[in-house]
Formats: sequence, structure tokens, C-alpha cells
Amino acid sequence: MTKVLLITGGASGIGAETARRAGARGYKVAINYRSRDSQARAVVADIEAKGGRAIALPGDMAREADIVRLFEETERALGPITHLVNSAGISARARVDEYDAAMLANLLATNVTGLMLCCREAARRMSTRHGGKGGAIVNVSSMAATLGGRPGSSAYAASKGAVDAFTKGFAREVAAEGIRVNSMRPGMVLTEMTEARLKEQAFRSHIETSIPMRRVGQSHEIADAILWLLSDEASFITGAMLDAAGGGYTI
Ligand SMILES: NC(=O)c1ccc[n+]([C@@H]2O[C@H](COP(=O)([O-])OP(=O)(O)OC[C@H]3O[C@@H](n4cnc5c(N)ncnc54)[C@H](OP(=O)(O)O)[C@@H]3O)[C@@H](O)[C@H]2O)c1
Repeated sequence: MTKVLLITGGASGIGAETARRAGARGYKVAINYRSRDSQARAVVADIEAKGGRAIALPGDMAREADIVRLFEETERALGPITHLVNSAGISARARVDEYDAAMLANLLATNVTGLMLCCREAARRMSTRHGGKGGAIVNVSSMAATLGGRPGSSAYAASKGAVDAFTKGFAREVAAEGIRVNSMRPGMVLTEMTEARLKEQAFRSHIETSIPMRRVGQSHEIADAILWLLSDEASFITGAMLDAAGGGYTI
């Protein structure tokens, strides 16, 4: 069966590394991006240079119309979507007494509502109930969902907690319809999202001291775990949360 993988937020970080490795493993890959046009094209070029097939598609995963269009365009270009990775996500740093409604709405629109709408589009295509042939989905959550995140990350942690709860419920709804759905929970990983803060040596040392393995993760360490969850090797696993976090937090 031809494997067609759509990755939201696939131009950078964990999404981009997942795209590159998926391309090398024979998936046809659709890489969604919001603003990173040249980075998305570079990921496509990397995949094609190794003989793979990939396309880059713009779209804001906080907008329903963009999400619907993204799924339609992916199918037109590559065929039926068999796999989905929801990696698009934003962080938000604010204490609760600094919250404002616009910040929260923006955060939840991408991290929660957009991800859920992507899962809706996937379910309508993959589910045997709708004439589909099944599929596998990985939602990129975060270890922040487990303990409420580090100080200043409560809103972000809440958004990822929602991802985990949704993943469990969605997985059970579609388990008998051929679709597996799991959450990947990275700990602190060096990507565009975190690199500015990790350049501060004091912050990095503080973070690394709190991780049992005493180091932050690399994108490929998350990408390989995502690809395993997508693969048939994980054929009896659905509704699971997989922590890739160097042991979590030492508290
Ligand atoms: N790095 C970590 O330590 C860590 C830890 C736990 C979980 N995560 C999660 O891992 C996922 C990937 O993050 P990353 O670390 O790889 O950081 P990243 O490089 O910043 O990747 C996030 C990607 O999502 C895209 N994106 C954000 N909002 C979008 C939207 N509305 N529509 C389409 N694309 C959107 C970003 O593109 P634009 O810049 O163009 O918006 C960016 O390319 C996120 O869900 C993040 O919450 C990361």
C-alpha cells in the first residue's frame, strides 16, 4: 500500500526531521507550513535528493478553511492520506496573572482546535465507516501535559493536556474503524522553538540538571519515535502517550 503522510508544521524542528526520515522510508510526504516557505522547500529538496517524493503546502492550522484545503490538496497531489502527524504548535510564556484572552485564544486555536480539526479531516478519509482503509495518526503533545509544565508554561501545558485527553477519546472512537491515534510527548528538545532560550547557558544547565539523562533531546530522537508509532510495528498500540523525554523531570 502506498503510504501518504501529511505533517502539519513540517518545515522546522520535529516536523521537518520526521518528514526527512519518512521520505527516506518510502512515505510520500506532504509538508504543511505557515510562514517558513523556504524551509519547507528545503525539506522537500532533501527528500527528493534521496529519491523520495514530497510536496510543500502552505496553510494556517488555526484556520478551518486552510485545514480543509490542505487535506484536499494533499490527496490531489499524492493520493489517499494514510498517515498524519500533527506537529504544528506554538508555545506561550506567561504567568496566570499575565494572561490575556487573545493570547489564550491564539494558543488554543493552533494547539487544540486546529489539531482536532485535522483529526476530523483524517477520520473522514481514513475510517472504514466512511469507506476509508484505515490509517495512523500521531499528535505531538508535550511532557508539559504531565506536571503542568515549567513555571510560566501553564497555558501551554493546558493545551497539551487537551491534546492527550482528546487523543485518548478519539482513539477509542475510531479503534474499530482501522485508525490508530497516539500522542508523542517530547521533553525539552533543541529546535527553533527552544533554541533562543537554550543558548542561555544558565537556563540550559538548569534544564539539564532537571532531566534524569542530564541533556536535552534532538529532533531525530523524537522523529524516530513518531515514525515507530506510525508503523505497523506499533499495530496494537492506540490511545497511548509515549514520553520521549530523557526520563522526564527530576523533582
Ligand atoms: N521543542 C521542544 O522542546 C518541544 C517539547 C515538547 C513538545 N513540543 C511540540 O513539538 C511540536 C513541534 O515543535 P518544535 O519543537 O519542532 O518547534 P518548531 O520548530 O517551532 O516547530 C513548530 C512548527 O509549527 C508551525 N506552526 C505553528 N503554528 C502553526 C499554524 N497555525 N499553522 C501551521 N503551522 C504552524 C511553525 O511554523 P511557523 O513558525 O511558520 O508558525 C513551526 O514550523 C509542537 O507542537 C511543540 O509544542 C516541542
